[in-house]
Parts: sequence; structure tokens; C-alpha cells
Amino acid sequence: MFKDDDVNRYNTKSLKYDFKKDKNKPDDVLPMWVADMDFRCPDEVIDDMKKRLDHGILGYTKNDLEYFNVVSDWFKKNFKIDLKPEWLVITPGVVFALATAVKVLTKVDDCVLINNPVYYPFTEVIRDNKRKVISSDLVLVDNHYEIDFEDLEKKIVDYNVKLYLLCSPHNPVGRVWKRCELDRIVDICKRHDVYIVSDEIHSDFVWEYEHTNILKYEEYADHLILCTAPTKTFNLAGLQISNIFIPNEELRKNFQNEVWNTGYSLVNVMGLVACMSAYEKGYTWLDELKLYLRENIEFVDNFLKSNLKRIKLVKPEGTYLLWLDFRELNLNNEEIDNILLNKAKIWLDNGDMFGDLGKGYMRMNIALPRVKLEYAMKMLKDAFKDY
Ligand SMILES: Cc1ncc(COP(=O)(O)O)c(C=O)c1O
Repeated sequence: MFKDDDVNRYNTKSLKYDFKKDKNKPDDVLPMWVADMDFRCPDEVIDDMKKRLDHGILGYTKNDLEYFNVVSDWFKKNFKIDLKPEWLVITPGVVFALATAVKVLTKVDDCVLINNPVYYPFTEVIRDNKRKVISSDLVLVDNHYEIDFEDLEKKIVDYNVKLYLLCSPHNPVGRVWKRCELDRIVDICKRHDVYIVSDEIHSDFVWEYEHTNILKYEEYADHLILCTAPTKTFNLAGLQISNIFIPNEELRKNFQNEVWNTGYSLVNVMGLVACMSAYEKGYTWLDELKLYLRENIEFVDNFLKSNLKRIKLVKPEGTYLLWLDFRELNLNNEEIDNILLNKAKIWLDNGDMFGDLGKGYMRMNIALPRVKLEYAMKMLKDAFKDY
């Protein structure tokens, strides 16, 4: 099984493995932080990239209708959504698209809405572009996060919000927004004329129920931007390709112009080849991977319940990122991180990177071979047994 292979990622210029010193981490920690997987991508994708490479010329490359058809088939089959070719804008990443949307849809000092705790670049793209971050914080109810819709609407009104960056499914808390929740979000945004940029990069990893694609809300399509990518799903993040869909023509033109203004105009050739190959041929690989990831999540859940009752897993409905609650231990994040790095010898993402609501939490990436996960959990147990 490809997932059990312990592939050595050192000396590949891997952000996750090769930059411990730069990031002030001990040399001997197991990286379980940034969201890429320790699994090889599908053989079919590797073969298609090799074939393309064998051609020997890697000149300027452009996406075409065939590319669109492959991408849109994926969304039709998996999310029952009909995309149109003219809606597509390619960017070198979803975070790039989020930043572009902020620039296009708001002005300096405008307020942009997010739901903390959320993937930290959401905050960064707002602040770095000199806009203001307004969070309608998620509410923890019975170890499960929910949106406070009253607060969401109040924040929109009070701060004259015109743009909402929605993380769907939500990283790091693992929520998959239900249809009824999205109904309420869209209804509120509609009433206050708020644009929704929906980051759906994790939508192929859904465990509990169906993921609802934001473009299902056809009647509100002119206020929606859908951000997608094959990079999380097929472990292709280094190829930097994402597919952004914008039905509103004027908004799309403005967005495309803003992308061009950065100097980016053409797709990375290997990104294009890998994206098409993965969406065409990656189904079986992905089915197997999802089973494996679910078992990894179950393993962590059972292990904590049996061995480390005071560390709680916020059970994810989607994503391979686990939000672990250490609050019962009464340690601050620095203390927890110290124990993780120096005793448990594992490197997780510190919860406070995700805002104040991450105090007492850590994010663990479980997309790695089971033997390594078993090792990590045993180390965690030994490190925290006396706390
Ligand atoms: C919610 C979310 N959006 C975007 C990204 C990164 O996307 P990209 O590498 O395409 O910028 C990540 C990566 O972890 C993510 O979790």
C-alpha cells in the first residue's frame, strides 16, 4: 500500500522537513505541522509528468478548454455542480486568490469578515493589504464548533462588512458546513450585499456528510468566488496551481486584472499536467487514501481516549488536520509546544497561530504512515503522562 511506505523526505527542500533550523525547531522532531502529506501522489500523475518531462521542452504553457473540461468534470461528479469555462481564473495558489479577492473587493481600511480560529493566512491577507480583520468567532458547543449567526450578522452590520472569507471545510476545526448552515450564511450575506469567497481546498476530504459547493447558490452567484485546487487532495502543493471560479463577469475581469498586475499570467506546465492527470485518473488512489486517513483519525481518537484522557480531539468532519484541546492541562501554548518539541519530539502547529481562540490548542497533521503516527502518539503519551 502506498500509504504505509515511509518515504524519506529529507534533502528534498521540503518546507515540512528541511527547514527545522530556520524555524528554530530541534533537529530530531517528527514534522506534523504544515498541511501536506507524507504520501507519494498517484502513480498515474507521476507517469504523466514524466512523459511530459521526456518531451524535453518546458516552454510557456496555457490552459485551454480541454483543461477546463477535466477540472469541471471533477466538480460535476463529486459535487454535482455545473461550472462554465469562462468562469475560470488560474492562480498560483488559493492564498494568492484570497489576497487578490481582498484587493479587488475592498479598499484600504475596509473590514473583512472571517471565523476564528481559522487558517492563519486568512488574517494575513487582510492585514497585509491594510484592511481590518473582523472575526465572528466560532463557538464551541459540546466539543463541536458552530457559527453564531446573530453575531455574524451583527458584525456585518456594525462594521459595514462587504467581504466574507469562508473556510469550507474549515481548517483547523474540521467543520463541514451543513446545507442549512450555508443557507443561513448566504441569506445573511444577501440581505447585506456581502461577497463570499469560499475556500474549498479541503472539500475532497469530508468524513461526516456531503460537502456543499458554494456555487450551488445560483441565485447569489454574482456575489460568489469559489476557490479550489487539486493540491491538498493529491499532495501537489509544490506545483502551485489553483482553479478559481467567478461567475460575475465584471468581478472576474477585475480579479483577472489584479492577478495580471502582479506579473503572473501563465500556468506552471507541471501544475497543469498534474492537475489534469489527477482529476482524470486519481479516483481510486483518493478512495484508498480517504479510508487510510479515516483510520488514522480513528486511531488518534481511540488512543487519546484510552491513554491521554485530558487531551481531547475535536472530531473532524473533514480535513486531515486535527484540532487537539490541551486546555485541561492548564499549560500555556509555549509550555505545551516546549513539551511537544523537546519531550514528545513532534512538531505540531501551535494553536495560537490561529488567533486567541487557539489558546490551549495544537493542530496535528495526520497524513502520514500509520507506523509514524503510532510512534508520535506513543511519544505524546510518554511526554504528557505526568501532567
Ligand atoms: C484552508 C486552506 N486554504 C489554502 C491553503 C493553501 O493553499 P495554497 O497552497 O494553494 O495557497 C491551505 C493549506 O493548508 C488551507 O488549509
